[in-house]
Parts: sequence; structure tokens; C-alpha cells
Amino acid sequence: MLCNLCNSLVLIHCTSYIAVFAVFAVVSAAKAKDQITYSVISLEGGRQDISVVVDTISYPLLQSAQVPVLYTGSAPIASKDYKYSMSTGRNSMKTENFSRNKTEESTPNETFGRPWNTRVLSKLKSALPPIPSIDRIKSLLHIDGEIATIHLSGNQSAFDNMHNNPMEESLVAANVSYISPHGIHTFSNVELEISGLSSRTFRKLSYNIKLKKKAKNHLYGYRRLKLRAINNDDSYIRESIGYDIVKAAGLAATEFSYVRVIMNDRPLGLFGLIENYKDPWLSNEFANGNVKYEQGILYQAVYQVDNGNVNITLSDLSYYQNITKYETGAYKIKADSTNGIASLDPLIEFTKFIKDAPTDTPNAVHIWNKKLDTESFLRCIALEILLGFSDGYIGTGNNYYLYLDPKTQRYIYLPSDLDLIFGAGFISTVSMTTGNYSDFPCFHLRPLIAKMMQIPTFKTRLEELIVEITKRLYNLKELENRIDDVVDMIEEDVAWDCSLPRVSKGLILGDIDGSEEYSLSLIPPMVDIPTALNLFTKNETIPLRVAVNGPTGHLASPGVKEFIKWQSENTMEFWHNTTGEIF
Ligand SMILES: *[C@@H]1O[C@H](CO)[C@@H](O)[C@H](O)[C@H]1NC(C)=O
Ligand SMILES: *[C@@H]1O[C@H](CO)[C@@H](O)[C@H](O)[C@H]1NC(C)=O
Ligand SMILES: *[C@@H]1O[C@H](CO)[C@@H](O)[C@H](O)[C@H]1NC(C)=O
Ligand SMILES: *[C@@H]1O[C@H](CO)[C@@H](O)[C@H](O)[C@H]1NC(C)=O
Ligand SMILES: *[C@@H]1O[C@H](CO)[C@@H](O)[C@H](O)[C@H]1NC(C)=O
Ligand SMILES: *[C@@H]1O[C@H](CO)[C@@H](O)[C@H](O)[C@H]1NC(C)=O
Ligand SMILES: *[C@@H]1O[C@H](CO)[C@@H](O)[C@H](O)[C@H]1NC(C)=O
Ligand SMILES: *[C@@H]1O[C@H](CO)[C@@H](O)[C@H](O)[C@H]1NC(C)=O
Ligand SMILES: *[C@@H]1O[C@H](CO)[C@@H](O)[C@H](O)[C@H]1NC(C)=O
Ligand SMILES: *[C@@H]1O[C@H](CO)[C@@H](O)[C@H](O)[C@H]1NC(C)=O
Repeated sequence: MLCNLCNSLVLIHCTSYIAVFAVFAVVSAAKAKDQITYSVISLEGGRQDISVVVDTISYPLLQSAQVPVLYTGSAPIASKDYKYSMSTGRNSMKTENFSRNKTEESTPNETFGRPWNTRVLSKLKSALPPIPSIDRIKSLLHIDGEIATIHLSGNQSAFDNMHNNPMEESLVAANVSYISPHGIHTFSNVELEISGLSSRTFRKLSYNIKLKKKAKNHLYGYRRLKLRAINNDDSYIRESIGYDIVKAAGLAATEFSYVRVIMNDRPLGLFGLIENYKDPWLSNEFANGNVKYEQGILYQAVYQVDNGNVNITLSDLSYYQNITKYETGAYKIKADSTNGIASLDPLIEFTKFIKDAPTDTPNAVHIWNKKLDTESFLRCIALEILLGFSDGYIGTGNNYYLYLDPKTQRYIYLPSDLDLIFGAGFISTVSMTTGNYSDFPCFHLRPLIAKMMQIPTFKTRLEELIVEITKRLYNLKELENRIDDVVDMIEEDVAWDCSLPRVSKGLILGDIDGSEEYSLSLIPPMVDIPTALNLFTKNETIPLRVAVNGPTGHLASPGVKEFIKWQSENTMEFWHNTTGEIF
């Protein structure tokens, strides 16, 4: 009896123990489940004390050892909301002035002070099929609606030296982290250098990034990237929208995305991330990334002043009997061909072809099409005109590449450096927007255009392209939603960018060649002096929305939307006037 009682007591005890244990287990399982990882990027540079405030309770986050701008830690799932907070000194905190919706899963890599991680942006509809040579890899390099962060770390005095001497070519080693909402990639011993020509004179500088060539060492397929400083564009969208349009017109070119850049402990601001047309770019663009692709040679046109500053060797595809002219630097070999051809000879031969090729024989079109992907060229020319590209082939014989496609043995024309578009630059906006494409300054001077316009098939095709692109793509109805969505996305980052001190002193233009006075006779014919003066002396920042919508009060930088409206309406009116067609 006693024993029975005893047994049952033990049993009761045991059962309750199990029950207690079970309850405990449930509690701890729930507790474990309630914990998630919070990850946030700080754009301040340097180490901060950062916490996540879940509902009302603060939980400290730890700085990542590998990626110093990232802070992570566990904290409970919020019952209502959460936000991040950062210590800014003794007893003072900066807390986000908005709440983040609760999430039951670990957060993406978020950014302090930015209420969103990924947005849905309106996209442009494709207006023309891609030119047949394009076979571009699928890559996550440019995720639409996200802004990644790039952290560059390295020897600060080496970075300072580079910034203090921006006109010098120098390579600096850096470790690079790339952090997007859903991915982190780190690279060591990356080569960093300042990029560009005139852009070296600005206070905010542009950079080239080169990842070491070894297996799997790439960022979503790419090893050579450019960080564009977006100088000279208070709208911040010219290159972004420009490359969107180039893609919608079916051309081979880089795509564009925005990145926030921090260098060691110092925020550098908002940049454009674009692809440098160097290995493995050609394979990525024309052979779906095939490592065995036998690529052709790629030439870059670089507007070049001949020695002595007197006679300019333009990279406008003029033929020079004096072969040395080609060696003054107007053309560069940007990428060698796999079979080892690394000379200017094929290009020289092409300029001679342009000079001598037939325009009035029955087989003229056929002969041209064997040498040049004429469609790629005509589409680019249509875009240069519509976009008002001051600094392209028509304007300055500059900012383009010619790729000798090994499959077809003909040249493909690639656009680049779209910062001076939508009326920005040194060409008068009025002369670019008459609606009559052949009014575009220097249109008749460029050998490749002058020659091709003598061939009716090509002239008609250019006119067709100008009208088709204007109807299907280049008008505010097609572009405005995309523009507005991009501007909404970057607005906070533009304000951040504008608030940052710059790394370089900046040079005034006269300093570049030892402060000689530029004689008026040296000013090239496309330059409109009042517009150019405004470009080089503008000393105020136009507010973002004004720079996008206009009017800006600045000749050299009309509002982006204003320019598109003038150009598309005048183009349609001109065609209506000349053909009687109504669109
Ligand atoms: C939060 O602060 C930013 C700038 O610091 C400001 O632009 C924004 O309007 C503020 N938002 C709210 C909801 O107060
Ligand atoms: C947060 O939740 C509210 C209400 O459900 C919703 O309207 C809002 O869009 C959400 N915000 C974000 C950034 O997801
Ligand atoms: C990059 O990181 C490696 C390993 O952490 C380090 O040894 C190297 O010094 C770093 N390089 C630079 C340029 O900071
Ligand atoms: C950092 O760079 C400076 C300037 O280029 C150089 O003198 C110094 O030796 C470098 N320091 C290290 C640790 O490499
Ligand atoms: C954020 O970064 C981590 C690395 O710390 C990465 O593994 C992860 O993919 C990113 N987070 C999410 C939710 O994608
Ligand atoms: C510059 O070009 C002009 C005309 O082509 C020629 O007469 C002159 O000799 C050239 N000057 C120099 C320095 O090459
Ligand atoms: C050929 O061009 C080079 C480079 O511009 C120049 O130095 C040289 O004088 C030119 N030769 C002749 C014969 O014109
Ligand atoms: C277009 O402009 C060219 C000169 O740039 C001119 O010769 C031509 O007559 C103009 N066309 C029309 C229809 O006005
Ligand atoms: C900006 O330029 C205007 C005239 O171009 C000049 O009057 C003004 O003083 C300049 N402002 C600054 C801050 O340099
Ligand atoms: C079209 O014709 C009208 C009437 O002649 C003229 O006023 C207008 O300037 C022309 N528009 C363009 C873009 O050429």
C-alpha cells in the first residue's frame, strides 16, 4: 500500500517532471524560433555602435570582421516593428526616423537610414530586337530596383596619394566587398585606379576596378568594372536612363546600376557601376560567357589632341595617309584578339575602306554590310541625335568602340560614356533639337556618316530608325514612369552624396596643359561658346527634381524631361512636315 502510494507519487513526480520539461522545451523552442538575424550596412565609414531596436528594446549588433560596413546580430522577431539606431557619441543616439515592418525571417542586408531594400521600377519596353551578334550572359550584376554598397579597404596613404595626384596613372591595391540585399562578395588584392580623362579634374573621382584573373574570381561574371562619379549631372540619371535606352534599342553595351561607395572609413557617395569593355566582357556580351570564345580585337576611340596642340587627330574614322597619325593616341586597343592580333592595322584598313568604298554601285550595300554591322551603327547614330549626345561620334568623334566580330569579320559599333546626353554638354541645345537630324552639329563632317548617307538604303534606314525609336521609346509617355521611379529610388542617396566632402581638390580646366590660354581658333566647330562656358563655370548645384524636370536656368544642363519633350515633339513635327504623315 505504502509502496503503491510511493510508486504513484514517484509516477506523479515523474509525470510532472516530464510535463515541466515539456513546457520548458516548448518555451525554448519558441524562443529559438523568435530569434532572427538582423543585418544592416552603415554608410558612415569607421566603426560604430549599432543596435536594432525591436519594438522598444535595443539589441546590439556586431561589426562583421570580413565586411566592416556590415553589422549583424540576433534579436527577437518584433511584435510590431523595428528600426536601427547608432551611437553618435556619449549618451547620444541617431535612430532611424521611420519604422521597419516586422519580419519573421532574417532580414536582407539592409542599409541604415534607407527605408527600403528592393523596389519595383517601371521598365522600358524593348523597341528593337537585339542586334544578332549579341549573346549576353544572364547576370545579377545590375539588379533593377536595388542599390548595392561597395567597400574599398586598403592603405589610406596610398589612396590619399592617388587622390592628391589625380592626373597621374597609378594602381593601388584594395580589398573590395560588395554587399547587396541578398548577397555578399569579397575580393582581395584588387587593382584600383582613377579612370577617365577630363573627369580627373573633378573633386569627386571615378575609378576602375580590376579583379585578379583566376578561377571563380568574378562578380556575377565580370572582373573589370567602373565606378562612375556622376559628376556634371545634377539629375544623376543621365547615364542610368541612357543605358536603359541603349538596351531597349537592342545594342551591345554595358548596363548600369547605382552603388554606394565607402573607402576605408570614408563615404565617397553615390556612383554608377558599369562594365569595363575588357576581359571577359566580350565573351560575356557576344558568347554567353564561353571561356573558350575566340574574341576579336576591340578598338576604343579617344578624342585626342596631337602633340603641339595645333593639329588635332580626331578619332572620327578619317583616313590618314600619314600612318603615324594613328599612333598619336586617338585610337586604343582596348582588348586583344585571342589569335594575337594587337595592332592598329585592321582599323587603318577600315578607315581606308570608308574613304574608298562604293556608294553608287548596285552592290554597295552588300559591300558595306560585309565590313560593318551597319544596323548597329545607324541605331547608335539615331540615338546620338535623339539623346543629344554632345560627346559621341557625331559631336566629337569620341566615346565609341569598334569590335571586329570574329564570327562575321565585320565591325560592331558600341556606344560608351553617356554622361553628356539629354542636352548636357557644350553643344547648343537648340541646334540639337530642330527635329531635322542633319542639323545636328558636325553631322556632315564625320566620314562614316557622310559616306553612308550617300547610299539611299542607309539614309532611309536612319530616318526610319529615328521615327521608330521616337514613336516606340524616345518620348515622355514611354520614359516618364521609368525616370520618376529611378529618381524616387535615388533621392535619399543623392542628398547623402551632395552632403559629403570630396576626395580631390579638383582642377580648373586651364591647369591641365600648364594653364595655357586656349585660342579661339582651337575651339572645335561643334562647341557653342555660351553653352560650354556654362558647362565649365556652373558653380551651383541644381536641386534633383529641377535637374530632372527643368527648367534649370542653365544652358549646359536642361531638364532631362524638358529635353526629351523638345526633341521627341520636334522630331515628330519635322517628319509630319516633310512626309505629311500623322503620328
Ligand atoms: C527622415 O529624415 C530624412 C532626412 O534625414 C527626411 O528627408 C525625411 O523626410 C524624414 N522622414 C520622416 C518620416 O520624418
Ligand atoms: C509595412 O506595412 C504596411 C502595412 O501593412 C504597408 O502598407 C507598407 O507598405 C509596409 N512597408 C514596407 C516597407 O514593406
Ligand atoms: C587584404 O586582405 C588581406 C587578408 O586579410 C590582407 O593580408 C591584405 O593586406 C589586404 N590588402 C589590402 C590592400 O588591404
Ligand atoms: C602605404 O602607402 C604608402 C604610400 O604609398 C607607403 O609609403 C607605405 O609603405 C604603405 N604602407 C604599407 C603598410 O604598405
Ligand atoms: C546578407 O549577407 C549575408 C552575409 O553576411 C549573406 O550570406 C546573405 O545572403 C545576405 N542576406 C540575405 C538575407 O540574403
Ligand atoms: C596642321 O595642318 C595644316 C593643314 O592640314 C598643315 O598645313 C600644317 O602644316 C599642320 N601643322 C602641323 C604642326 O602639323
Ligand atoms: C605624320 O604625323 C606625325 C604625327 O602627327 C607628325 O609628327 C609627322 O610630322 C607627320 N609626317 C608628315 C610627313 O606629315
Ligand atoms: C535639314 O537640314 C539640312 C542641313 O542641315 C538641310 O540641308 C535640309 O534642307 C533640311 N531639311 C529640311 C526638310 O528642312
Ligand atoms: C558663381 O558664379 C557666378 C557667375 O557665374 C558668380 O557671380 C558667383 O560669385 C559664383 N559663386 C561662387 C560661390 O563661386
Ligand atoms: C513644321 O512646319 C511648320 C509650318 O511650316 C513650321 O512652323 C514648323 O517650325 C515646322 N516644324 C519643324 C520641327 O520643322
